[in-house]
Amino acid sequence: MKILMVCLGNICRSPMAEGIMRLKIEQYELAATVDSAGTSNYHEGEHPDKRSILNGKKHNVDISQLVSRPFTTADFDQFDVIYAMDSENMKNIIRLARNETDKAKVKLILNEIYPATNKAVPDPYFGGEGGFENVFNLLDEACEVIAKKIKQ
Ligand code: 4NP
Repeated sequence: MKILMVCLGNICRSPMAEGIMRLKIEQYELAATVDSAGTSNYHEGEHPDKRSILNGKKHNVDISQLVSRPFTTADFDQFDVIYAMDSENMKNIIRLARNETDKAKVKLILNEIYPATNKAVPDPYFGGEGGFENVFNLLDEACEVIAKKIKQ
C-alpha cells in the first residue's frame, strides 16, 4: 500500500500526516510506504514550517528533513491512495486525473474518522500554535484508523 498525503503548501499539514503515518507503519509493521506533496509549488524545496516541525517534535514525530514538492500527474501511477487534507486540495488533485482509476484513488483524510462528512483538516498556516496541535490530533486519529485498516 503506497500512500500519498497532500495539502496546499506541503509544509504544514501533509508533512505532519506523512511523519505520523510513517511512525504508525513502523509501529504496526505495515506493508506500506508514505510520501507527501502539495497542490501548489509555493514552497517547493523548503523544509516544513517551523511550527509543524516543533509540534511534531513534541509528539516524537521528526519531520525536519522532509522537503516540499508539488503533486504531479505521475503521482497517480506511483501511489495506491491519495489523501487530500481538504476539499479544495481534492478538487485540484482530481483536476489532474486522467481517468476514473486516478480519481478513485483520491480521498479526504478526515472521512476516515468522520465518514462521508467531507470535513477539512483546517489550514494552520495563518493561525497560532493551537492550530498545529489541532492538526496533529486530527491526523493522528485519522492515521490510526488507516493503519488499523491496512493491518486487517
Ligand atoms: P499547508 O499550509 O497546505 O498545510 O502546507 C499552507 C502553507 C502555505 C500556504 C498556505 C497553506 N501559503 O499560502 O503559502
